[in-house]
Amino acid sequence: MTDSIERFQREATQRERLSSLGRLSTVVAHEIRNPLMIIKSALRTLRRENVQPDQVRAVAHDIDEEIARLNRIVAEVLDFARPIKFDLAPANLNALARDAVRAADAGVAHAKVKLDLDTTIPDVTTDAERLRLALVNIVGNAIQAVDSRETPADGDPIRLRTAKITSRRVAITVTDKGMGIAPEDLPRVFDPFFTTRRTGTGIGLAISRNIIEGLGGRITVSSERNRGTEVRIELPMQPPATA
Ligand SMILES: Nc1ncnc2c1ncn2[C@@H]1O[C@H](COP(=O)(O)OP(=O)(O)OP(=O)(O)O)[C@@H](O)[C@H]1O
Ligand SMILES: [Mg+2]
Repeated sequence: MTDSIERFQREATQRERLSSLGRLSTVVAHEIRNPLMIIKSALRTLRRENVQPDQVRAVAHDIDEEIARLNRIVAEVLDFARPIKFDLAPANLNALARDAVRAADAGVAHAKVKLDLDTTIPDVTTDAERLRLALVNIVGNAIQAVDSRETPADGDPIRLRTAKITSRRVAITVTDKGMGIAPEDLPRVFDPFFTTRRTGTGIGLAISRNIIEGLGGRITVSSERNRGTEVRIELPMQPPATA
């Protein structure tokens, strides 16, 4: 019974992925045009006769950034177009969480992420690299949300908690006291390319959901404007066989 429910959920996810691919292509075309225009104008600067060395450096940096953005878009579209091939192995969830926080926190010394780790969790079978990527995205969002608040909140601005919830499932929650999400935006946060940030691409949560659901888990977001946001991930300790 559990198996057939899991299979149904997997197939539903697959169907959703294919239909969102149709919608995705129009958005992708639009998303690709932006970086291309920036690269084109950078090249125009380089072609000027009296271009200065520091201008060359600045423009090279712009081109580099835009190429990275294009690469991210391509990688994301590929992950949507075909089921992700996961690389499964036993992993220590707490070590992985600590690692992800360190990566997301890099250079943002004031963003204190408090870790609340359940040390009774046994190793989980997962794709550590991809799960880590999902957590980096989610913690990164929390840091940005806290930074965008007008007045700092009391207490720990961000908390990452791990917990064993049943003999077969674990949960990871990331709670922040950031700016929160407007109720009308909440249903769209997982949409590819939905962003409210000036420099955002809007694919962090789309990627993260793809990964978590591919590993047989689920991810939910709840939020209150100006109070904060909670992202909750539930994962089976052993992903379904075809994950
Ligand atoms: N912790 C959070 N607090 C407030 N808003 C959030 C939070 N997490 C996500 N959001 C909202 O969801 C949107 C989509 O998030 P997502 O991570 O997919 O994209 P992004 O952060 O805007 O860009 P990217 O991750 O591609 O750089 C964000 O622009 C923001 O509006
Ligand atoms: Mg993000």
